[in-house]
Amino acid sequence: MIAMSANLSCHKLRAGMIGMGMIFDETYRPFFERAHAEGIYRRDFGVIDIELSAVASRTGSRAEKYRQEAGAKITPFASFAGAASTQQLLTHGVDAVCVATPDDRHFESARLALEAGKHVLIEKPSVLKLQELDALDTLAKKNNALAKIVYHKLGDPDHKKLHTHYVDGNFQHVNNGYCTLLEPKSISGSQFAEWIQGRNPGTYVAVHYIKLIDFTFGGKWKLARITCNGQRGIVGPATGNTWDSVQLQIVYAYPDGREAAFDIHTSWVTPDNFPGYVDQEVQFRFDNGVWNAHQRKRGVEMTIENRTPGNLKITPNHHYNGSFLEPWGERSQRGYGIEIIQKFFEEVAYVEFAGPPALREERLTQMRALDYNDVGADRNTVAIVQAMEALLERQAQGQPAGVVEVNGPRGGLVLLTPGKIEAAVLYSNRV
Ligand SMILES: NC(=O)c1ccc[n+]([C@@H]2O[C@H](COP(=O)([O-])OP(=O)(O)OC[C@H]3O[C@@H](n4cnc5c(N)ncnc54)[C@H](O)[C@@H]3O)[C@@H](O)[C@H]2O)c1
Repeated sequence: MIAMSANLSCHKLRAGMIGMGMIFDETYRPFFERAHAEGIYRRDFGVIDIELSAVASRTGSRAEKYRQEAGAKITPFASFAGAASTQQLLTHGVDAVCVATPDDRHFESARLALEAGKHVLIEKPSVLKLQELDALDTLAKKNNALAKIVYHKLGDPDHKKLHTHYVDGNFQHVNNGYCTLLEPKSISGSQFAEWIQGRNPGTYVAVHYIKLIDFTFGGKWKLARITCNGQRGIVGPATGNTWDSVQLQIVYAYPDGREAAFDIHTSWVTPDNFPGYVDQEVQFRFDNGVWNAHQRKRGVEMTIENRTPGNLKITPNHHYNGSFLEPWGERSQRGYGIEIIQKFFEEVAYVEFAGPPALREERLTQMRALDYNDVGADRNTVAIVQAMEALLERQAQGQPAGVVEVNGPRGGLVLLTPGKIEAAVLYSNRV
């Protein structure tokens, strides 16, 4: 008779969570709760317990609220609040750290975690400057840790299929395209009120599509130049530096002299009674075809009196993150927004447990080579974000219509403004 063990668990990964806001609740919470109940398993690394050991946030109030709500769905965790909370979390003892603070605060937490030798997963946008990206990449290599970024749109089945078609040569040579992502006013008006000053929706959400384009079609081309425009007057003053909407254009150059251009339009002032939570659409044009995709209108349209489009949406996206009653009676929350976080923990488990310690470095190198999420493969994306932020800053100073040149004779990222002779070098090394 074969003796079956009820508890197959052998290894544990202790996770630290920095930032307990909206995205924690949407994607990390369901991941940690399921991992708490089931662990994660793969033949190569076995059964792994994932424990949310410690959390850090500004005030600690949402962490306490979560502790009350979660009850037995999660292991008891330590909660640290305030300016020293990241250091306290690191001292508490964690193996991997997830950074989900506002986008201009990622760098500091990620830097401290990598300095302490922890594996790190950073919400998009990773960091706002190539200088910061260089620092994180260097630290990750020095301390033999993974530094990864959450780009869940690459896990959307439609985007995976687009990538597959491109790699398989069904779509040939992309020439141009557009992407749009419009967030509701509640995001800029209340959700992000604490940190909205001086920020823009482009950095917050265009980055999803910047990465999608760079990852899906990249390889042969080189990033060439970036331009952008923004509008103000709703979230902040019409002459201030807080932006309502942004139109970004990025241009890549192929070795044969042809170019590809992409427009990415974003906003966080769409009316709250919009039929979907966010409006998301892409169109890409190739030498031999066109790809049109709508991330919201995927076929479902529903109306419930007094509930849509307020707390339920008319055109929901069930692929990103949906809560379901499974046919077998279980309640679940699943989707590519959660899968992408599990993938990071699988990568960490692979490095730590999928073979002898002597071969850990080899496994680490393999996981670093995954360019869908590694910090080392985020150069173009961060370059575009850095350029966009600098162009908006110039526009706020009354100097609109600038352009950022990439890898020209004057440096890696160089901002030129009409009517000005001098060029501002944003990043001197090659991008
Ligand atoms: N993957 C996605 O689709 C997606 C969606 C939304 C947000 N995000 C990203 O997640 C990040 C957080 O967004 P959110 O919507 O959860 O924001 P939020 O404002 O709801 O929450 C931010 C959290 O960070 C904490 N915090 C702020 N400063 C801190 C500090 N210095 N140290 C420790 N904690 C600190 C706050 O206390 C809060 O818990 C942003 O980078 C955003 O771009 C990603």
